[in-house]
Parts: sequence; C-alpha cells; structure tokens
Amino acid sequence: MNEKAEASQLPVFFENDELSALEAITEAQKIAFGPVVFQAVRLLRDKGILKALADAKTVGLTDAEAAKIAGISEYGARVLLESGLGAKVCLRREDKYFISKIGLFFLNDRMTKVNLDFVQDICYKAMWHLEEAIDQGKPAGLKELGPWDTIYQGLSILPEPAFSSWFNFDHFYSDQVFTKIMPIILEGRPENVFDIGGNTGKFAIACCDADPEVNVTICDLEVQLNHAEDYLSKKGYSGRIKRHQMNVLDKHLDFPGKADVIMMSQFLDCFSEEEIVHILKSVQSGLGEGGSIFILETYWDRQRFEISAFCLQQTSLYFTAIANGNSKMYHSEQMKKCIDAAGLVIDLEMDQLGISHTLFRCKKKV
Ligand SMILES: C[S@@+](CC[C@H](N)C(=O)[O-])C[C@H]1O[C@@H](n2cnc3c(N)ncnc32)[C@H](O)[C@@H]1O
Repeated sequence: MNEKAEASQLPVFFENDELSALEAITEAQKIAFGPVVFQAVRLLRDKGILKALADAKTVGLTDAEAAKIAGISEYGARVLLESGLGAKVCLRREDKYFISKIGLFFLNDRMTKVNLDFVQDICYKAMWHLEEAIDQGKPAGLKELGPWDTIYQGLSILPEPAFSSWFNFDHFYSDQVFTKIMPIILEGRPENVFDIGGNTGKFAIACCDADPEVNVTICDLEVQLNHAEDYLSKKGYSGRIKRHQMNVLDKHLDFPGKADVIMMSQFLDCFSEEEIVHILKSVQSGLGEGGSIFILETYWDRQRFEISAFCLQQTSLYFTAIANGNSKMYHSEQMKKCIDAAGLVIDLEMDQLGISHTLFRCKKKV
C-alpha cells in the first residue's frame, strides 16, 4: 500500500485566483445574497414546489399552478420561483417553470438534503452570533438551540428538528467509512477496542458485526451514553458493547483496562489544538503495549473535489459559533503537529475513504 505517495499528489485548493473580473464580481453577488437564496430554495423544496416541477416533467407549471399545489399565494410562488431561476434550481420557458439539474439534486440527493437541513436547523439562526463567537472565543450561537456551554452537553437532548438534522449530518459522513476501514482496524485481531467519542455506537456495532470476538467500549459523555444505550438495545448489542463515562478534557483519564485499538472518529475536530495534544497524550494511558490509535477525520487539504474542501471550510464555522467556540475542520498538517507534540508517530495514512475522510494510524514514539 502506498497511501503516503497518493496523499502527496492530492490538490490543495483555493491557492489560485484565476477568475476574470466578471466571474469574480458574479461570485461575489452570489455570496452577498447567499442567505436570501438559501431560504428561497429551502422553501421551494419544503413547500413541495420542486417536487411538483419534477412531476410536471417537460409540461412544466405556471406560477399560478405552482401556487395552488403549494397552498400559497400566487405572489408567494412567483417570488420564490423567480429567486429559484437566479439560483438555477428551476428554468423558465414562456410562462412555464421546469425543474433543472440543480433542482433535482435538492430533491433527490441525500448529501444535499443533510447539508441543507443541518444549515437550516442547526446553523442558520445561530450564525447571526458568529461575530460575538469570534470576538469572545465562545459558541455564542448555541443559545439558539439550548442552554449549554458546548453542544456536546445537549447533543442527545436537542429539540426537533435540530436533533434529527444533527445526527443525520454526522452519520451521513461517518457511516460510509466504517465498513471500509474495518479490515485495517481489525488487522491485528485486537481483543479490546475503545471508541472515544463513540456517540450512538455505530462504529462499535460495525466492529462487532465484523468480528464476533472483539470487545468494544464506547467512551463518551453521560448524556450521549444514555442515548447510545437506547440505540444499542434496538440493535441487540446492549449486552456486548460496553459504555464508559469519560470527559476527555479531565486531567487524568480512567480507562476500564487497556485497549489494542483506540478509535477517534470525527472526534478531534471537536477540540482546539491545545486540547487535541492533551487528549492524544492522555489516552495513551488506555493503550496496551504495541497498540494503535486511529484518527479518522476530514481535512480540507486532503479532498479530491474543490466543493468538498468548501463544505469543510464552512463547517468549521459551525464549531466556532455553535459547537464549542474553539475547534474546526483542520488542515492535515495542523493535526500532524498535534500528533507529534503528543509523542505519537503516524505509521499509516489512507485518503479518500467514504466521501471525504482520511485515516491516520498512530503508535507511541519509541
Ligand atoms: C462529532 S461526534 C462523533 C461521533 C462518532 N464518533 C462518529 O464518527 O460519528 C463527537 C462525539 O464526541 C463526544 N465528546 C465531545 N466532547 C467530549 C468530551 N469532552 N469527552 C468525551 N466525549 C466528548 C460527543 O459527545 C460526541 O459523541
């Protein structure tokens, strides 16, 4: 396997500025009206207008027909559809509107749906507080969702629709990776695995499905472990998968024994660089002789597509304004510095797992 060589050939985005002046001013206006367009397209979807346009196929719909189907005024349908024309989610010929390719993605593509729902239900109102969050280093927008210091204290008790939109977003990205990385995780036939920040237990379940003998313990905050218990029972795993309450920011961590594998999936992005070094040092007390620490993350510099880097760079601001005020989607070099500072070395790197993940396998420095 030559993952290191592969990784070094990946493009780094956003370092060129090759747009013409016209292209640049065009992009600038799209950003200036971004929040307005977002709400219009969301309503075209949620009021059923995009679906009605798709159903009408090449016949199309007038704005009056769209209004009737959506149960809104003709004025309302007209302003939304005209905004949709600008956003290119629909097309117009004579007095009829038709679904476009972009519109079809809003209707049928799961990634577009989870991203839009996450931005609407978790981020939209909270982003108003981004400036306060940057100025104070605190997740000032979180008050729009609940009375917690960080989102992790309230994750499993978020009000709907925020609850579903958060978990759908998180799981959409990590679920697709777990089965792919399982051969590497289980390569040395580990006896014990600790899944730190294991949340509902999806990784733990994937391990147990792949190896009937492995013991997996989810280490997480109490509120998440309670939620995991419901999920694990539904899946018939509440007896086999253990749960261990742990706050990784505590000075000393108590583990239930030693693990051959410690997993951290979409976890270290929840912490500042200083905290990451603390966590990576502290968890070594739970690592058995010769064991491995796996870090599964989405780095914006390790993406194949420019739009993936864009999504990750914007997701960082969710951490700033809502999650905790001090973490982000990292550049892989930033993470490597933390790994080195914690006394670990990376002995395996794998890119392009699932939609956008990179796996690092780390060992204690000798
Ligand atoms: C983004 S979720 C990752 C979930 C899962 N590992 C995945 O890949 O989908 C982050 C998890 O870290 C946990 N977490 C956040 N802060 C923590 C802390 N201080 N101590 C322990 N767990 C924490 C959260 O409760 C949550 O379950």
